[in-house]
Amino acid sequence: MPQSSFFAKSVPFDQIDKLAITGGYSSIYAAQQPNLTVVGNWEQRFCRLADTFQPVLDRVYNFEVREDDVWIVTLPKCGTTWMQELAWLLINDCDFKTAKEVDLTLRSPFLEFNGVVQNVPHDTIEAADALSSPRLIKSHLPAWLLPHQIWSKKPKIIYVYRNPKDAAISYFHHWRGMVGYQGTKADFMHSFIDGYVNFTPCWPHILDFWQLRHEAHVFFTSYEQMKENLGEVITEVARFLKRNISPRQVQHLTEHLSFESMRDNPACNHVKEFESMKAATGREVEEFRFVRRGVVGSHKDELTADLIGEFDLWSDVNLRDYKLHIDDFANYSKYNSK
Ligand code: A3P
Repeated sequence: MPQSSFFAKSVPFDQIDKLAITGGYSSIYAAQQPNLTVVGNWEQRFCRLADTFQPVLDRVYNFEVREDDVWIVTLPKCGTTWMQELAWLLINDCDFKTAKEVDLTLRSPFLEFNGVVQNVPHDTIEAADALSSPRLIKSHLPAWLLPHQIWSKKPKIIYVYRNPKDAAISYFHHWRGMVGYQGTKADFMHSFIDGYVNFTPCWPHILDFWQLRHEAHVFFTSYEQMKENLGEVITEVARFLKRNISPRQVQHLTEHLSFESMRDNPACNHVKEFESMKAATGREVEEFRFVRRGVVGSHKDELTADLIGEFDLWSDVNLRDYKLHIDDFANYSKYNSK
């Protein structure tokens, strides 16, 4: 039996029931030194995941990577879907017709989705394996849990950062609407800060990709920049992916990727994932729109001043040792030193 790539330590967590997690929750550690440099001591790095992820983690780690793949790696709710649609269109010669006809989750699979929802007929790892090249694959896993071949074959990776306060708010609504979270907003925010919800802790996830941002195969951008100047981000991603794009196509993409257009586009609303999650939890969940509010700073009117203070302190503590400030991430541009 080959050695597993990880080991799990179960964590007691009184929110498990409220978080609508079946089974338990664990801290996942690397079983051997990863073949990339991670921030901090790799032996102490962990990622919190519901135990339903454990059957997929080795399959993900040993997944066959192709050099011409494009990977979108993000923490949940950072604009993943938005960037997926953007990148898919660039890779596929702006084929808006197919983009509208075929669900994004089929065009660009979420690799570890079977860890979120088990026993769905559609195995996302097999689906990703069967896709023809060039593939666009989504993952929320931290760098060191991604397929190990990523770091030797070096396919292109796009990482999208979002202010964790806004991402956490968006995650809260997602967890209520998609998973059936019954707890309070404050409890959820504390679970996020303390690194209990799937794919957290948040800052080490970001910092691993931040330190890779100058690598030729890594493109680090932010939700905030996509909001501020989508046309510029489209042009930068096209440059990164070595795709020629005309000003007219940039204009067409900008319209297709607008909040209103994405909100009303069933191919980008995760309808299939929503249905599998509803069936898996067996409970009715509130009406939820995946493309929900789409603003920068949603935390300002959705979080209390106390919670905002807790988030800010937590960010400062996590960034202090690296002499970084939270604004560094949202404003970074690979090709344009602002
Ligand atoms: P909100 O919940 O704050 O509205 P992900 O795809 O990573 O899960 O991210 C989802 C977030 O991206 C949601 O944030 C969603 O509304 C936002 N989003 C999706 N498409 C968008 C667009 N075209 N413009 C702005 N925000 C968008």
